[in-house]
Amino acid sequence: MSDEITPLHSFDDASLDTAFTTLADEVRTETDSLSDPEAFRLHWLGRKQGRLKLISEAWLKSAPPEAKKALGIRFNQLKQQIEAALEAPTAVATKSAVHGIDITLPGTVRSPGIPHPLLSTMHEVVSVFHHLGYSTNLGPQVESDFYNFEALNFPPNHPARDTQDTLVIANQQSRPSRDRLLMRTHTSPVQIRTMIAQAPPVRIVIPGKVHRNDAADATHSPIFHQIEGLCVDTNITFSDLKGTLDHAMKALFGSDVKTRFFPSFFPFTEPSADVQISCIFCGGKGCRKCKHSGWIELLGCGMVDPAVFAAVTAERRKINPADDAYNSEKITGFAFGMGVERIAMMLHGVSDIGHFYSGDMRFLEQFA
Ligand code: PHE
Repeated sequence: MSDEITPLHSFDDASLDTAFTTLADEVRTETDSLSDPEAFRLHWLGRKQGRLKLISEAWLKSAPPEAKKALGIRFNQLKQQIEAALEAPTAVATKSAVHGIDITLPGTVRSPGIPHPLLSTMHEVVSVFHHLGYSTNLGPQVESDFYNFEALNFPPNHPARDTQDTLVIANQQSRPSRDRLLMRTHTSPVQIRTMIAQAPPVRIVIPGKVHRNDAADATHSPIFHQIEGLCVDTNITFSDLKGTLDHAMKALFGSDVKTRFFPSFFPFTEPSADVQISCIFCGGKGCRKCKHSGWIELLGCGMVDPAVFAAVTAERRKINPADDAYNSEKITGFAFGMGVERIAMMLHGVSDIGHFYSGDMRFLEQFA
């Protein structure tokens, strides 16, 4: 940086141009390798000792009055050039560096994350039903005996309760049996909660965590996920149930998939069925995955048992004694339930349920 001020003797346009080109070049050379923008700013724009101030004073003093305007314009242009250089990204960045932030450094890359494969499977299933006009309901994981069992037609001490290895909350003995708390063994209690709160028509899906006293192995986990469905309206028949589930299975596993319904038993549905789909691995020919049967069992379903509507009606009548919304002479419904892990394992070819809970990034990253 040269600090010397060259006096100016001629003030015609050509001389002014030459003088200012020299200054502009000086500024440009300095900004090309700008390492300390603050020093550069002070050097040129400093209010007392700034070069621009000193030069303009010296030159304006010796300038004839008619040249002052031309000089002024050129000083303004020079000032703009200096200011623009200070606003340029490199100058700004270097300035930030001085103050502790260097925006020229690469940022910290935060991986945005992905939905867990169980969550995305849940979303996939739920969205198939959303497209059919269903909405989503949720309920608590700590549930009362009434919602989890009694209202679903599992009477106290009935052997049907043994089909669900229930984890109960400690120290509930002093409570009436219907109020005793347990970890819900299925998502079906939300059917009851929904019907108590809402008159038909009802079309809901209920995704959520459930708990059973099961030992963990390759296909079982004491905590797992289900998606329940419930449809209640006038004239709902078993063919509606079949058509709905057949469509859902095709939407999830491909339009070639076939479904078949086997008689089964659940206390809260009558008749009840287990649904099998044609093996998606061998197309139904028979392979190890389907134990050479060509079919894979995937869900439970059935027509809502009138005893369930009766339990719901009894609850609703506590609020409105005349309530008749769930009169099983007038309305019917179907319900179904499926395991999310099982579907996710099939969709992604996962052979051990434990991978879903291990938190092992090498497993999870495959779903990114
Ligand atoms: N809740 C049943 C279970 O967990 C599944 C099911 C839901 C069956 C709805 C029929 C209707 O085994």
